[in-house]
Amino acid sequence: MVQREELARVRAHFEGQPAEPLLNWALGEFHPEIALACSFGAEDVALIDMLCRIHPRPRVFYLDTQFHFRETYEARDRIQQRYSVELLQCLPELSVEEQAARYGPGLYAREPDLCCQLRKVLPLQKMLSRLRAWITGVRREQAPARAEAQLVEWDERFGLVKINPLVKWTAKEVWEYLRGHGVPYNALHDRNYPSIGCEPCTRPVKPGDDPRGGRWAGFEKVECGLHTKPA
Ligand code: ADX
Repeated sequence: MVQREELARVRAHFEGQPAEPLLNWALGEFHPEIALACSFGAEDVALIDMLCRIHPRPRVFYLDTQFHFRETYEARDRIQQRYSVELLQCLPELSVEEQAARYGPGLYAREPDLCCQLRKVLPLQKMLSRLRAWITGVRREQAPARAEAQLVEWDERFGLVKINPLVKWTAKEVWEYLRGHGVPYNALHDRNYPSIGCEPCTRPVKPGDDPRGGRWAGFEKVECGLHTKPA
């Protein structure tokens, strides 16, 4: 079993290689205690397609905030019809109604950090506590806070291995993969939503704008806390 100290060696080995050999190694090493974190965004559906070429039934989880767009749930359904994945739904402790009763309605508009914490970060923590490694679609060019992300790293925050196979990919490369392999994707991507989170907190962007500019528009907030390092 790979030790934490060996991750730098693993990383060096897979540097410059396509994503598939890294995924193949990761599943061989960690399955069934490894899963892809999937928002059904472009990167994640590309990773599902790759994983299904490698493994008969890879594990995939999605943090179902219950605030996703209809198009996101439709993308989930199309992916489930097309691919053999073990899809795990991670729900928050409180339903939308229970959260409104406890914190008041529209918490996302008043305290988006708390809303993300309750509906994404805590359910993620619970899911990751059952795993030894997780796979994400994080890419360096997405945001300054992601510029240091590594192919394979130790996730200090959640205490497990984190695998980011697309870390050096550009958006163009992701789209070439999706089109080249006919992968189903979220219809909102064709309507100026390059980055898609919850419906109340995601806006379309203008061509040429920061692709993440529509996330938490109107707030200083740029990350929900899934990928931030501990202070
Ligand atoms: S976020 O932190 O701002 O929401 P982003 O949408 O860029 O993240 O997605 C980056 C990666 O985080 C995705 O490729 C995926 O691995 C993971 N992720 C984001 N949202 C979810 C979700 N709802 N469920 C599971 N994984 C997610």
